[in-house]
Amino acid sequence: MRFKCTMGLQNTLIVMALLLSVSTVPFSGAASLKSHAFFNETGELPCHFPNTQNLSLDELVIFWQDQNKLVLYELFKGQEKPNNVHPKYIGRTSFDQDSWTLRLHNVQIKDTGSYQCFIHHRRSQGLVSIHQMSSDLIVLANFSQPEISLIANQTEKSNIINLTCSSTQGYPEPQSMYVKLNTKNSTSNYDAVMKKSQNNITELYNVSISMSFPIPPETNVTIFCVLQLEPTKILSSPPYNIDAKSPVPSPPVPDHILWIAALLVTVVIVCGMVFLTLKKRKTKQPGPSNECEIIKVEGKESKQTEKRVELQEPERSDKVQCDVNISTTASDNKSATDF
Ligand SMILES: *[C@@H]1O[C@H](CO)[C@@H](O)[C@H](O)[C@H]1NC(C)=O
Ligand SMILES: *[C@@H]1O[C@H](CO)[C@@H](O)[C@H](O)[C@H]1NC(C)=O
Ligand SMILES: *[C@@H]1O[C@H](CO)[C@@H](O)[C@H](O)[C@H]1NC(C)=O
Ligand SMILES: *[C@@H]1O[C@H](CO)[C@@H](O)[C@H](O)[C@H]1NC(C)=O
Ligand SMILES: *[C@@H]1O[C@H](CO)[C@@H](O)[C@H](O)[C@H]1NC(C)=O
Ligand SMILES: *[C@@H]1O[C@H](CO)[C@@H](O)[C@H](O)[C@H]1NC(C)=O
Ligand SMILES: *[C@@H]1O[C@H](CO)[C@@H](O)[C@H](O)[C@H]1NC(C)=O
Ligand SMILES: *[C@@H]1O[C@H](CO)[C@@H](O)[C@H](O)[C@H]1NC(C)=O
Ligand SMILES: *[C@@H]1O[C@H](CO)[C@@H](O)[C@H](O)[C@H]1NC(C)=O
Repeated sequence: MRFKCTMGLQNTLIVMALLLSVSTVPFSGAASLKSHAFFNETGELPCHFPNTQNLSLDELVIFWQDQNKLVLYELFKGQEKPNNVHPKYIGRTSFDQDSWTLRLHNVQIKDTGSYQCFIHHRRSQGLVSIHQMSSDLIVLANFSQPEISLIANQTEKSNIINLTCSSTQGYPEPQSMYVKLNTKNSTSNYDAVMKKSQNNITELYNVSISMSFPIPPETNVTIFCVLQLEPTKILSSPPYNIDAKSPVPSPPVPDHILWIAALLVTVVIVCGMVFLTLKKRKTKQPGPSNECEIIKVEGKESKQTEKRVELQEPERSDKVQCDVNISTTASDNKSATDF
């Protein structure tokens, strides 16, 4: 096996020597290791150099290259040598001396591939290859949690639900996406064709499904959208709950409206009763009796009402009850009668 010369015209004698010595090392014995990295984060390219002779960096020449023989990093006698580093790797690497690992920063999907590290010992007769290692970098990006959104609020009229579910910025391509519908005693899955789009620069995928399916109206249902990443790995949306339909569909009435209605009915009934009582009394004994029609219990007039009540000691209890009840219906706005 031979290396292609990819260093361009800048090749120095040393690099030539390196490449020549590299090309003489058989690859069959080289160890290979898988290394995972997340998109836009830092990946590790290990070298696993045992350094049994306790050699110092001064005595070594170390470099990494990718599967296209482009140099990522070179350390020559303990000094970084950028001359041979390919522009796409400049400023993206750092060498961890303790673990003999090269860190590759801002990892892109395109960085997926195999890398090799080479270590040469400088001896009197020249550079001698003493270690090399291959590793495979696998770049991943986590899809966002799938999100369900209803296309239309169909559930009032029909039992069909129409939804879209989407998840973004992931890699690699997922297997499928489906909807899971749970009721108290059943579970059903609804499959749909997964639409996917890939960003042509980042190579990340966005995926979505759109579908409609029937939901049982008589029971509460919970819907999940599931993204199947690998055979044993899924990512699920938060639950989307749809409550059972009430037997008589009617718009919900807020509590306070019911309360006001009840109060009005009570007032009307009480007033009616008081009015009748007073009417009866009126026929027996003359005197002011239209209190229930005298309703404007606001500001000065409420004081007037109090006075009026005081003036009419004998019938006080009836009137107070009436006034108090009526004060809640000030909106009736009947004009007050002066005394
Ligand atoms: C990459 O990470 C940086 C912060 O570390 C962030 O600002 C940037 O938005 C990320 N880029 C992408 C494409 O995720
Ligand atoms: C390796 O060499 C360094 C000096 O180059 C020395 O300080 C260190 O103790 C040595 N380590 C071993 C394990 O021999
Ligand atoms: C991606 O998800 C895995 C769990 O599946 C988590 O361990 C990891 O930290 C996540 N990575 C990023 C960059 O969000
Ligand atoms: C469906 O109804 C809910 C509340 O009734 C509302 O928040 C939502 O925006 C509606 N969605 C659509 C797609 O009309
Ligand atoms: C669901 O939405 C799609 C797109 O808006 C529409 O074509 C389809 O008719 C809808 N289905 C139902 C059952 O509402
Ligand atoms: C669920 O269970 C109830 C009784 O608990 C039963 O009446 C109903 O038919 C069941 N529904 C389904 C879909 O199996
Ligand atoms: C993927 O989704 C992200 C976030 O919603 C959006 O910014 C981007 O344009 C989408 N990319 C593609 C290729 O659809
Ligand atoms: C990426 O796609 C956009 C349109 O989505 C296009 O304008 C652009 O030229 C493409 N870039 C490359 C490098 O293919
Ligand atoms: C549906 O869920 C609501 C609470 O969200 C609960 O009050 C109601 O009893 C449930 N109905 C059925 C049929 O399970």
